Amino acid sequence: MSSSQLIRVGLLGFGTVGKAVHQSLEENRDLIEARCGRTPVIAQIAVNDLSKDRGASVVTANKELVAKKLSRLTELAMARKADLRFEAAVGAGIPIIQPLMHELGGCRIKKMKGILNGTTNHILTEMRTRGVPFDEALEEAQMLGYAEADPTSDVDGFDALYKIIIAASLTSGTQIELDASPCSGIRDISLADINHEEGLGRRLKLIAEADLTGDAPSVTVGVQSLLHSHPLSQIEGTENALWIEADPLGEVTLSGPGAGGGATASAVLGDLVEVVRTIDQGCVSPPWPIAPSF
Ligand SMILES: NC(=O)c1ccc[n+]([C@@H]2O[C@H](COP(=O)([O-])OP(=O)(O)OC[C@H]3O[C@@H](n4cnc5c(N)ncnc54)[C@H](OP(=O)(O)O)[C@@H]3O)[C@@H](O)[C@H]2O)c1
Repeated sequence: MSSSQLIRVGLLGFGTVGKAVHQSLEENRDLIEARCGRTPVIAQIAVNDLSKDRGASVVTANKELVAKKLSRLTELAMARKADLRFEAAVGAGIPIIQPLMHELGGCRIKKMKGILNGTTNHILTEMRTRGVPFDEALEEAQMLGYAEADPTSDVDGFDALYKIIIAASLTSGTQIELDASPCSGIRDISLADINHEEGLGRRLKLIAEADLTGDAPSVTVGVQSLLHSHPLSQIEGTENALWIEADPLGEVTLSGPGAGGGATASAVLGDLVEVVRTIDQGCVSPPWPIAPSF
């Protein structure tokens, strides 16, 4: 293998996702090399040492960063002819970003509704199916490793907000600001609320929603009561899903594993393959600029 075929990769962070990416890259090396036509080698692993932007292409799973800075990051990537990919930041292993940018790139996206946080969906599922109250379901989720010691980002809706903001900013071409987006979580949901809705043929779910039909795109996160016939009401446990309404497509629902080392590594490595495969073409993703908000 000549050195011109080697592509040096820096890994920033070596926790759940970083370790899974490293392991999966080694385990699937033959396949990845065949698909890239080059050899990605992890040249450096940095922890708590964020490298300065040196014009390198970036693949990230960091939803908070992308949600807050998508417009700026896109501008930088385009100016430096570097690639920027973040498939893992929304729905981890579920292909969402690529379908929005490519397969649905010719569609007018009108609405999106998602169950984009596995922790809260798991808690609501346990409350409904086993009759455990919120505090107990949260404690169990923490013991199972589904919830962080500080569960604020999940339970109060911010994690889901980051993800829907990324999807909506990308499709609308406008950076949507966090502060302008109403967000609430599941802390106040009681067993009585859940049972009452079930009796009416409806199910309580934490829904991240984007409406792109008005003059300006709007995004909200909060608990909604969905008819049992709605595709999102059937999404249980840690599974995630995004329902999309678009012209001329109609409706489509993407679902699958929305968290975990393996699922997230799958999306990161998919992005890495694309970056390496198209490395001579400069910035190809995202394919259009994201304007700053007014
Ligand atoms: N876990 C998932 O299922 C999942 C799914 C989708 C997206 N994500 C996103 O992926 C990212 C990583 O998640 P994770 O679950 O792997 O977290 P994690 O297990 O807490 O690991 C984070 C790693 O990043 C390191 N780090 C922190 N600040 C850094 C910096 N400024 N520069 C370089 N490294 C730094 C940490 O080092 P120290 O330990 O020394 O602090 C640690 O090695 C997060 O942004 C998360 O939102 C995670």
